[in-house]
Amino acid sequence: AAAEKGGYPSFMEKEINDQPSAVADTLLGRADAAGKLTLDELRIDPEELAQVSKIIVLACGTSAYAGQVAKYAIEHWCRIPVEVELSHEFRYRDPIVDAGTLVVSISQSGETMDTLMAVRYAKEQGAKTLSICNTNGSTIPRESDAVLYTHAGPEIAVASTKAFLAQITATYLLGLYLAQLRGNLFSGQIKDILADLGKIPAKVQDVLDRADQIKELARSMEDAESVLFLGRHVGYPVAMEGALKLKEIAYIHAEGFAAGELKHGPIALIDDGQPVFVVVPSPRGRHSLHSKVVSNIQEVRARGAKTLVVAEEGDEAVRDYAEFVFYVPETPTLLMPLLATVPLQIFACELATAKGYDVDQPRNLAKSVTVE
Ligand code: G6P
Repeated sequence: AAAEKGGYPSFMEKEINDQPSAVADTLLGRADAAGKLTLDELRIDPEELAQVSKIIVLACGTSAYAGQVAKYAIEHWCRIPVEVELSHEFRYRDPIVDAGTLVVSISQSGETMDTLMAVRYAKEQGAKTLSICNTNGSTIPRESDAVLYTHAGPEIAVASTKAFLAQITATYLLGLYLAQLRGNLFSGQIKDILADLGKIPAKVQDVLDRADQIKELARSMEDAESVLFLGRHVGYPVAMEGALKLKEIAYIHAEGFAAGELKHGPIALIDDGQPVFVVVPSPRGRHSLHSKVVSNIQEVRARGAKTLVVAEEGDEAVRDYAEFVFYVPETPTLLMPLLATVPLQIFACELATAKGYDVDQPRNLAKSVTVE
C-alpha cells in the first residue's frame, strides 16, 4: 500500500499531487495541431449537438461543483443556457426536458445511483445524454448516448480532488467543442483558450511546490470550529468545494457563500476570530469583480474575521486586508478554479491530518454512493 501511495502518507495527498497530470492527460489528444477540437469519441452526431437549445448538468457532491464551474464557461462561450442540478433533486421533480436538451452528467465513479437514475429519467424524456466520467466502462457512461472520459487515473481517497480538476477540464473541452460546432468562437479564440489550458498543469505544479505555506496555516488552525469560504463568479463554486473538503475529512463546520450574499445573512455569523477564506478574482480584465471582493474582505475583517485569501500573483491590493495570502499564478478568470481549488484541498488535507484523522476514509462517507 505504501508503494501505491507513491511515497505520500495518504492517497489523498498523492492524488492532490497527481493533479498536473490529471489535467494534462485529460487534455491529451483532444485537439489537432491547428487547435481544432477532435472529440469524435463522443458518438453524438455533431449536427444534432450543435442544435441543442439547453444543457442540464446533473451530478452529486464535488462533481456537482465542477458542473457549477462549467456553467460559467459554457454559457459564456456557447450562449446556450446551462442549468446545474443535483441528480436527486432533478429526478424527483417534474423537469422540462425534451429532444433539444443535452443532459451532461458528471461522475467520477460512473456508479452514483442518483445520477444514474437521473440520466435514465432524462433519456426516457427524449434528452440526449452525455457522461463525463473517470471510470472506463462504468454504468453511467454505458447507459449514456455519449461519453467524454476524464483521465485523472483511479481516485482512491473518498474526498475527490484530482477528479474535480479533470472534470472541469473535460467540461471546458466540451464547451469549446460546442462553440466550435456552432461558430460561437473563432478558431483563433479556441486555439488561445486551449493554449491557456495547456499551461495549467505547470501552474498547478507551481501551487503544489508552495504547499508548505498553506500547510503551516492549516496546522495552526487545528482548533477551528467553523470556517467560512467566500467567492464570486467561478470563485463561488470553488468556495463551496473548499468548504466541502473541510467538512468531509476534518469534520469542521464549513460553508461556502457567494460573497454578494454576505449582507443577506452570512455576515451575521462573523465575530471575533472567525476564519474566512476568500477566493479573489484576478484584478486584470475589464469586468473585474476584484474590487467588489476586496470590499467583501474589508467588510468581514471590520467585524473581526480572520481573513485568509487566495489571490492572483501580483495582487498587492489584498495584502492590507489579509491575515494570510496564498498567491496562485496568473490565468484567465474562467480557468482560475483549476488553480484556486488546490490550496483549499491542501488546507483540508493537512488540517485533518494534524487532527489525527484518516483522510482517505472519513467517517460515514463512501467513495461511491450506489444506494439511495
Ligand atoms: C461521494 C464521494 C464524493 C463524490 C460524490 C459523487 O459523496 O464521497 O467525493 O464527489 O460521491 O460521486 P461521483 O462518483 O458521482 O462523482
